[in-house]
Amino acid sequence: MDINISSCHRFISHQDTETIKLQAVKKLESIQAKTCYGNDFLGWMALPDIDEQALLQIEETAKNIQNFETVVVIGIGGSYLGAKALIDLFTPYFEAPKTEVIFAGHHLDDQYLLELLQHLKGKDFALIPISKSGTTLEPAVAFRFLLEQLIRQFGEHTVAERVFPITDKNKGALRTLVEQYSLKSFVVPDDVGGRFSVLSPVGLLPIAIAGVNIRALLEGAKEGMSEYIQTKPDNQAVEYATVRNLLYQKGYVNELMVYSKPKFNAFAEWWKQLFGESEGKSHKGIFPAALQVTTDLHSLGQFVQDGTRCLFETWIKFNQFEVDIQIPRNEQNLDQLNYLTGKSLHEINSKAETGTIEAHQDGAVPIVEINIDQCSEFHIGKLIAFYEVACAISALLNDINPFDQPGVETYKQKMFKLLGK
Ligand code: PA5
Repeated sequence: MDINISSCHRFISHQDTETIKLQAVKKLESIQAKTCYGNDFLGWMALPDIDEQALLQIEETAKNIQNFETVVVIGIGGSYLGAKALIDLFTPYFEAPKTEVIFAGHHLDDQYLLELLQHLKGKDFALIPISKSGTTLEPAVAFRFLLEQLIRQFGEHTVAERVFPITDKNKGALRTLVEQYSLKSFVVPDDVGGRFSVLSPVGLLPIAIAGVNIRALLEGAKEGMSEYIQTKPDNQAVEYATVRNLLYQKGYVNELMVYSKPKFNAFAEWWKQLFGESEGKSHKGIFPAALQVTTDLHSLGQFVQDGTRCLFETWIKFNQFEVDIQIPRNEQNLDQLNYLTGKSLHEINSKAETGTIEAHQDGAVPIVEINIDQCSEFHIGKLIAFYEVACAISALLNDINPFDQPGVETYKQKMFKLLGK
């Protein structure tokens, strides 16, 4: 993986870059020394070093759950986005999976829940409720309905075979349920916040159920964690945090993650939460958004090219591609596409990417490029480590605690008051 920030030097000076890089290295030192803000939430750095016994337990449980037709993963924010990101990336677009993984509890839409309950009728299903606090309203509401249906369909005596909570090791409603029914459960470590928990059982169990190679994911993350934690200016996480900080200071207050694979959409959602919830505090921070090429060039492209100059882009590009389809020749050529005959779709997509980068550069959009060898579990594991470290440095550069989310409480308090809690 490499990061190219060369085209940003039109917007930021080399001298400023060197100055902020040194500050970023200092922030990284404070993370390593555990003296930074939120130093009791640094457990995510050790997650890739999971011990073999714990990993085997996750794999065995996943194998067991794969015997069900459907599994519903119930969680919100950091308790589902990482799992969804990895499952979407590494499972086929259209092929029906052996075990269907459905997400619930990530909103309060009544129609979704009703249709899900309907869908589960007659299906052999299991539930994985995930909540660190055990008190989050959205997943708790969904779980109440789903557990009731499970008991109606299969009997209360089957709860222990079908429900696998992931929650705090001592407290919360889910822990009480675990004790009441003697459930097999997993723990969200105390020192790992939701948005940094993808490499804990929170992400690993659902991902493994979907058949994704969690060992390769963890290997990549392990390599990434040891590389990106190095306190030196040419550390790529330091470079990325530096360039973001400088662009932010110049008024580029929105970052677009740009990619061309639709399978990457959920990964962008994971990334948005990681950066948005970590950095957006005290009226500071970069707003994270996403742009899928070429789809969004036909919707947001106009703004990016020509609207308010407040955006910079971070392109995720993969050097190797997995499939190769070529444009066939057509005798009639009614669509006038014969000039593309024999060209691969990958080649056409690459030209679209290059053309878009050139156009956006002409439109004065700063562009960071992250080039990744291939879209494999190993490389995405490494990318996760890269983003987690870079996110922590970025927030600290703005004098922000990366690991809390005080702003999220405000809506909850107002909602609970309206609901008469
Ligand atoms: O990153 C975070 O801490 C949040 O997004 C939480 O993951 C989210 O609010 C869900 O919380 P909980 O797992 O306690 O239900």
